[in-house]
Parts: sequence; structure tokens; C-alpha cells
Amino acid sequence: MAKTVVLKIKRQDSPKAASRWEEFELGWKPGMNVISAMMEIAANPLTRDGKTTTAIAYDSNCLEEVCGSCAMLINGRARMACSALIDKLDQPITVEPLSKFPLVRDLQVDRSVLFENLKAVKAWVPVDGTYDLGSGPRMAPVQQEWRYPLSRCISCCCCMEACPQFNEHTGFVGAATIAQVKLFNEHPTGAALKQERLRALMGDGGIQECGYAQNCVEVCPKDIPLTNSIADTGREVFKQAVKDFFRG
Ligand code: SF4
Ligand code: SF4
Ligand code: FES
Repeated sequence: MAKTVVLKIKRQDSPKAASRWEEFELGWKPGMNVISAMMEIAANPLTRDGKTTTAIAYDSNCLEEVCGSCAMLINGRARMACSALIDKLDQPITVEPLSKFPLVRDLQVDRSVLFENLKAVKAWVPVDGTYDLGSGPRMAPVQQEWRYPLSRCISCCCCMEACPQFNEHTGFVGAATIAQVKLFNEHPTGAALKQERLRALMGDGGIQECGYAQNCVEVCPKDIPLTNSIADTGREVFKQAVKDFFRG
């Protein structure tokens, strides 16, 4: 008998509609991943029991774990669907949308909270008006080496989904934003906004909400040293708070 793949996918037509599960059985192919399976379903949207259904809504773009758009819960774990190889997953494979972000439809969620958080901490190097000033400051290779892993963040939100502290009660910004604060604070030009970034992480929803459970670092698809970044940034925030206190 030909080998098959069974996927159990959570469907929801709109944010207010009731959710339902649908099962699909596909012919196995070497190298299949969850996105390629969903593409096959889109080409022939028939459930396992023979009912015609609609194509599944999901986000994806690069198909090579770079754009960060295809994050979802696969067998209960937050991960990228394009790099989730079918052969490495237990079947039936359950596929659900991330649970901590507003649902749009099926597997699509609105992850704009991360982008709002990045704006709040000014996660950029301020370069306005510097285009004609020649090349920027030099950076030592050792500094480039430890900054590079932080720059690999693809804004997928897996770290926030897995974090017990990222919820509506705490308003916690989450690990990705804190790691970006470290990345930009350690840039020779980006450091101009260092104090503002550190102050943005003080108070409710800031870095103090982190309980160091380390779930974030476990699920990050880009192996970003999140807990180290949180610890380092926490010390910087504390030093800044002390300075601010004595300055009145
Ligand atoms: S260390 Fe734990 S509490 Fe802190 S951001 Fe990571 S998962 Fe969340
Ligand atoms: S830190 Fe890792 S898990 Fe979090 S958004 Fe960036 S790439 Fe995704
Ligand atoms: S499609 Fe871009 S990360 Fe998966």
C-alpha cells in the first residue's frame, strides 16, 4: 500500500466563527514539509472522508525559514511550517494557528504586536541625514561575531507564543524585542538611542516580567541566544534605572 501522510488542521473562517478540525490524507513524497502539504491540499481541497472544502488560509513567503511568516503550532509546538519536515513529525500531524495572537482566518494570525513592540523600543539604527557623511563607524570582528546571531531574528513570534509570561495580563514585550534592544544598543551608531530603549523596557510589560523559564530559547528557529540577551539587557536596564533615580 502506498505510504500516506495524515494532517489534522484547525479551521476557522473568521475571528468570530466557530473553529473545527478537518483531516486530510495525502500521498507521501520525499522531502515533504507542512507548507508543501498545504499547497497540495489547496490544489485539491478534499478532506479525508471525501468532502470538498476550501483551501486553507496561511501565511508563507520565502519557503526557506527566512521571512518568518509561516509560524504555527505543529504537533503543539510553535515552529516554522516551511522547515517542518513531514518525516520528522508524529502522525497524524496536528496544525493549529499560534494561540496568543488575534486570529485572522484558519492558520493566519495578526502578529503586529511584535512590530509595535519593536517600534516602542526604537529597534533601528538612526541614520536620517547621515547619507552624505561617508561610511559608518568600524566594528571589531569580535563584536560583529556576537551581534550576528541576534541579527538573525525573523520576527516569527515563536518565542512569544512559547513564553508563559507573554499574555494579556502582563503585557510583556517578549524575548525577541529584548534581544533587538541588545543588538541595536551595541551598534556604534544605534547606541545613540540606548537610554530610550532601556527606559522603554522599564515598568509594566517590560523586562522585569520575564521569569527566565527559557521556553523562548528552546523554540527559536534561528538559535538566537535569547536568555543571555535578556540577562545582559536586564543588567543594563537596572543600571539605567539607578542612574535615572540619582539624577532625579
Ligand atoms: S526566559 Fe521565559 S519568561 Fe523570559 S522571555 Fe523566555 S520564555 Fe518568556
Ligand atoms: S527571537 Fe527567534 S523565535 Fe523570537 S521572533 Fe526572533 S527568530 Fe522568532
Ligand atoms: S515561508 Fe518564510 S519562514 Fe517559512
